[in-house]
Order: sequence, then structure tokens, then C-alpha cells
Amino acid sequence: MTTLLKNTSFIDALHFKNAGTPPIWLMRQAGRYLPEYRAIRKNHTFMEMVKNPKIVCEVTAQPLQRFKFDAAILFSDILMLPHALGMPLEFKESVGPVFQSPLNTIEDLVPLKKGSVSSLDYVFEAIEQIQQNIDVPLIGFAGAPFTVASYMIEGGSSKTLAKTKRWLINDKSSFLDIMEFLTEKTIEYLNKQADLGVAAVQLFDTWAGALSESQFRECSFPYLKRIIDSVSKKVPVILFSKAATAFAQVFQDLGAAGIAFDINANMAEQRKKMPSIVLQGNLDPDVLLADPEIVQKEAGKILDSMKNDPGFIFNLGHGILPETPLESVQALIDKVRHG
Ligand code: CP3
Repeated sequence: MTTLLKNTSFIDALHFKNAGTPPIWLMRQAGRYLPEYRAIRKNHTFMEMVKNPKIVCEVTAQPLQRFKFDAAILFSDILMLPHALGMPLEFKESVGPVFQSPLNTIEDLVPLKKGSVSSLDYVFEAIEQIQQNIDVPLIGFAGAPFTVASYMIEGGSSKTLAKTKRWLINDKSSFLDIMEFLTEKTIEYLNKQADLGVAAVQLFDTWAGALSESQFRECSFPYLKRIIDSVSKKVPVILFSKAATAFAQVFQDLGAAGIAFDINANMAEQRKKMPSIVLQGNLDPDVLLADPEIVQKEAGKILDSMKNDPGFIFNLGHGILPETPLESVQALIDKVRHG
């Protein structure tokens, strides 16, 4: 495949070879804080957008046209995989994702077993198109089985994941059947993204913190490990979780190239504990709601503590908020680039 790659600092950092200022990209960088995103969104549902390769291509590139980010992330959603396997999905205004028929018993998984990753052809087509249109590396992604299963079971966003936890605790064996199923599909999905040329993939186990450490070791760890072992043969894997700090010790053993930290971590302390894992993070997204000078001061603290680290990638501790002013993003990038 022809590639237009000009800026390789993100890839260099993934190989511990970044000599300059750290690369920067932001989770949800293609999204509602951008007026040009909202302009398209006004005329389309989120679902229409992610199923249209031309729009996916355009929206993925939008943040790069405005800001000098060092990587792009595919515009899609972690819930498109269960959707493609047969679960009707809607993204409702000011509610979030809603699965029409959440999983209630293990029998509900049976029809999904006939589903195929190839239904995500609109994603694969978009990945090919995007790479013809951008000059920075493209990051692919998927949700981790536990986090994706939690949405399939809860039917949408939930504060407590009570239904998911009850299932896992009450009937572990059938819960692990769901993990097994999602693991195989996720491996297939991510390997396909890698075959199409993405430079790295990020695996989102956003809600792993709903689990105790022993529950995590039994119900998420082995599945993450299988995904990471398989996909790492092709591209570096970065693992993100809101519980990355809490589970840092355990995460280290998963063999991911990189760990993306939530806001709770002290990055320099993590570096001492894990000298050979790429570290990504971890500015509080709320900082971007403050004045530009404050944004630069807060970013400066992280930058100073990670100065000259060849395997550090600057990012937020979670996705950028829709209310974020554009000036904050510009101030952040200026600070990362010029100190
Ligand atoms: O980061 C990017 O720019 C790439 C695209 C991306 C989206 N979602 C776009 C999106 C990625 C990588 C995700 C991951 C995702 N989706 C996660 C894991 C990471 C995280 O943020 O915790 C989760 C849990 C989801 C599920 C999801 N999708 C929720 C809970 C919501 C509603 C909340 C919200 O932010 O609106 C979504 C919708 C969603 N996914 C939007 C975007 C841009 C907003 C859609 C809109 O325009 O209305």
C-alpha cells in the first residue's frame, strides 16, 4: 500500500526511539468539540456516520486539519463489533449507546455466533481510504471483551455494572463463554485492521475497575492476554483503562507494548516501575476547560516529569470533553511542541 507517512514520532515512541518532543494525540480527538464535526453530525446520526466510509475518512482527518496531532484514531466505536455481530444499537442524544435487546441469558448469545466480523466492511474500507489521505500514523482499536460485554449485558451505560457483575459472580462459567466469544471476534477484528496497515491498535478496557483484582485476573486478564499475544505479532498494542493506575502491576504482565493511563497515575513513578513499557497519558480532560495558561502549566508538569523519555506519548487520561474550547487544544499542542 502506498503511504504518505511524514511524521513518525508516534511510531518512534512505540519503539522507544523518540528523540524529540513527545508525540501527542487525544482520545476522542475526532468528536463533538470540533465545529466541523458538529456540522456533519447535525445532518446524520452517529450510526449513519460510522457506517459511511467517506464520512469516517473525513471525520478521522478533521482534527489533523486544525491541529498538529502526531497520530489519528479511526472514527468508529467499540460497540460496532457487537452491533455487527447482530445486536441492534442506537446512540441516543444525551443518553449514549442503547442496545435494543441486551443479553439476559447465555442463550441470547446463540444468534450472535452466526454473525461475522466481515459485516464491518465499512470500517475496513474506511481504514484503506484514510491512509491515502493523512500523513500521520493511523491507530485502530477495539473494546476489551469485559468492557464490551458490560454494554451488551447492561444494554447501555451504567454506573455500577450491577447486572454484569451479578452474572459474572452468579454464573461464572457462562460469563466466560461470552468472554471467549468476544475474544475470538476481537482477535479477528484487530488482526484485520493490522493487515490493512494501521500503525498500532488501542484496546479499551475502560471499565475493568468494576472488577476486584482477583475477578480481573480470572475474567479479563486471560482474554486480554490472548488478544495482545495475537495482535502484537503484527502491530504494537496499547492498553487503556480508567483503572490502569489501580491495576498497573497486573497490566504489566499482559505484554502490551504500551499502557495508557487514567488521570490518577503519576507518570514518572510508573516509569520507574516499568522501564520497558511505552507510557501514554494522562492529563485530566477537565484541565482543558480551564484558561490556556493553566492548560500549559498543568501539561508542563507532566512534560517535565517525562522529559527526554523515548517511550512516552502525550494524551489525556480519558476522552476529550465536548465542551472543550479549541484554544485549549491549541495551547496544549503548543506546550507539548515548544515547551
Ligand atoms: O477517540 C476517537 O476519536 C475515536 C473514536 C471513538 C469513539 N468512541 C467515538 C465516539 C472511540 C475510540 C470510542 C471508544 C469508546 N466508545 C469507549 C471506550 C473509551 C471511553 O471513552 O471510555 C466506550 C466506552 C464507548 C461507548 C460509547 N460511545 C459511549 C458510552 C458513548 C456515549 C458517550 C459520549 O461520549 O457521547 C459513545 C458515543 C461516541 N463514540 C461519540 C463519539 C465521537 C459521541 C457521538 C455523538 O456524536 O453523539
